[in-house]
Amino acid sequence: MKSREIRLTRHFTGPVLPEYFEIAEIDLPEPGEGEIQVKNVWLSVDPYMRGRMIGIKTYVDPFQVGAPMEGGAVGQVVSSKAEGFAEGDWVMSMYGWREGWTAPTAGVTKIDADLLPPEAYLGVAGLTGMTAYVGIKEMIGLKPGETLWMSAGAGAVGSAGIQFAKAMGAHVIATAGGGEKTAFCTELGADAVVDYKAVDDLGAAVRAAAEPLGGIDAYFENVGGDHLQAALDSLKPHGRMAVCGMIARYNDDAPSPGPSNLTQIVAKKLTLRGFIVSDHFDVYSDFVSDLSGWMMAGKVKTRDTVFEGIEKAPEAFMGLFTGANIGKMLVKL
Ligand SMILES: NC(=O)c1ccc[n+]([C@@H]2O[C@H](COP(=O)([O-])OP(=O)(O)OC[C@H]3O[C@@H](n4cnc5c(N)ncnc54)[C@H](OP(=O)(O)O)[C@@H]3O)[C@@H](O)[C@H]2O)c1
Repeated sequence: MKSREIRLTRHFTGPVLPEYFEIAEIDLPEPGEGEIQVKNVWLSVDPYMRGRMIGIKTYVDPFQVGAPMEGGAVGQVVSSKAEGFAEGDWVMSMYGWREGWTAPTAGVTKIDADLLPPEAYLGVAGLTGMTAYVGIKEMIGLKPGETLWMSAGAGAVGSAGIQFAKAMGAHVIATAGGGEKTAFCTELGADAVVDYKAVDDLGAAVRAAAEPLGGIDAYFENVGGDHLQAALDSLKPHGRMAVCGMIARYNDDAPSPGPSNLTQIVAKKLTLRGFIVSDHFDVYSDFVSDLSGWMMAGKVKTRDTVFEGIEKAPEAFMGLFTGANIGKMLVKL
């Protein structure tokens, strides 16, 4: 089987440009003993991948220049020489950014495509949903009746988080860029939504929206920059913050100055907790159990933005930084 794959042409800082990616075609080897060959059907592109393109080790190794990149993928087994895997089985792996692969089954998970659409395992039922869950439940410890501000509310983590927080009995204020996205957040159950692109003073707009709900107890940080500044100004005393990501900063050429109001952390006795989802698999079974219940009760909707074809994967990835997605950004092969 032939497979086209996307490779990185160089490590870089600053904005993501199309020339940093190239496409190549290879002949996949037949599976050896203990290996399977898989045709990918869905690929995930995620903001964290940007950090792997800089060329320095953070909590994860950088992508190698000239090699296919890695990322979440679901696909079907084409041929198998591994026990427990048969032709036609659906599997999830980190062998993304490519049409197919042959490899041992370590780190490969079988998924039930009768239970949920296979792409859901890259979204709300996968690490995306788990990220929202860990941030809200473990980092913030959100309680019924409290008010959460969910930033990037129309994105993958944000849209899951709005619905999880509502299912936990909390109030939610969402922020997102543009009318279609704010309407989506409302559809997901957000009590109030602010289009951050349409206001001059984000903090004032969010505080005004939160006033009827008793103010903001917790903030889910996906964005950084002006959102972080506004959150520090807007949280109530003893407010909590799950620091999940800061996408507004990922394409900076050099670190930008931080918020000018960090003293609010002291004055308001705030708690800020950064986290990486992969450190929290101990709560995976709680996540699956809660999510199943919420899904069966009709409390979780999903929406994806889909680019078609492996050659579109770089464009889909770049779209994360321009807000081209509503819900989870995916590539369908
Ligand atoms: N800690 C972890 O383990 C973990 C795991 C997964 C994800 N994350 C983080 O979670 C966040 C969301 O990830 P995701 O996969 O769900 O992506 P996403 O929210 O589906 O997509 C990114 C969204 O970010 C917004 N955005 C991009 N640039 C922005 C800017 N300069 N200012 C304001 N908003 C901007 C855009 O929405 P608008 O159009 O509304 O601006 C865009 O649609 C990211 O920060 C990511 O790094 C962390």
